Amino acid sequence: MDNNNTIAGWVLAGGIAALGFSILSGKYFHADKNERPETMGFVIEGVESSDGGAEEVPMSMMLAKADVAAGEAVFRKCVACHTINEGGANGIGPNLWNSFGKSHGHVAGFAYSDALSSVEGNWNFDNMNAWLISPRKYAPGTKMTFAGLSKPEDRANVIAYMNAQGSNLPYPEPPAAEEAPAEGEAVAEAEADAAATEVAEETVAADEAAAAE
Ligand code: HEC
Repeated sequence: MDNNNTIAGWVLAGGIAALGFSILSGKYFHADKNERPETMGFVIEGVESSDGGAEEVPMSMMLAKADVAAGEAVFRKCVACHTINEGGANGIGPNLWNSFGKSHGHVAGFAYSDALSSVEGNWNFDNMNAWLISPRKYAPGTKMTFAGLSKPEDRANVIAYMNAQGSNLPYPEPPAAEEAPAEGEAVAEAEADAAATEVAEETVAADEAAAAE
């Protein structure tokens, strides 16, 4: 009787230990999750992420393909509140002539929110992109009640158009590093192919040599 209890006790303890181990290993090895790395190795062109690809394609690369005329069409979404001609009147929003390179909230006589005018730094391609993705997220409490432009192409085009109205800042160089991994991979693949072919040829040669003996 006593003995049976001891055996039952060990079996139970063993079961608990096994359960504990499987929980722990699950924790450390993420066996139960199908995980993607947080940052992918390189950008795959033409594939949009769920958030519109905003973070993945640098604005400098988007601008290289941007179309000012298409940007003027996108800007129609803004004209209810903004003018963008030189000396244009402020409306619900400030006049946007020559905005790039200027501080946040630089237009004299427009009553900006503190949320926007307290943002440090000058307007550039990257922070304008972030602003146009979501004004509310960029400057929580902003008076600009515009949801944002979800398509990266729309943002790039309208940014190109806006820049062409007075500012004409040079576009930033697209990062050269983006190209390198793709090329490197192609070379590595070609080398691997060549190596495989060589091994195959060597095997054939060795077989032939063996047959000749
Ligand atoms: C519903 C009205 C409205 C629409 C539509 C709108 N804006 Fe605005 N915009 C505002 C207001 C209001 C502000 C000032 C925000 C503040 O002070 O917080 C502003 C501010 C800005 C600023 C900052 C200017 C500065 O002097 O710092 C930029 C840039 C801008 N808007 C661009 C755009 C663009 C581009 C679009 C269209 C894609 C757009 N806005 C659509 C109302 C609007």
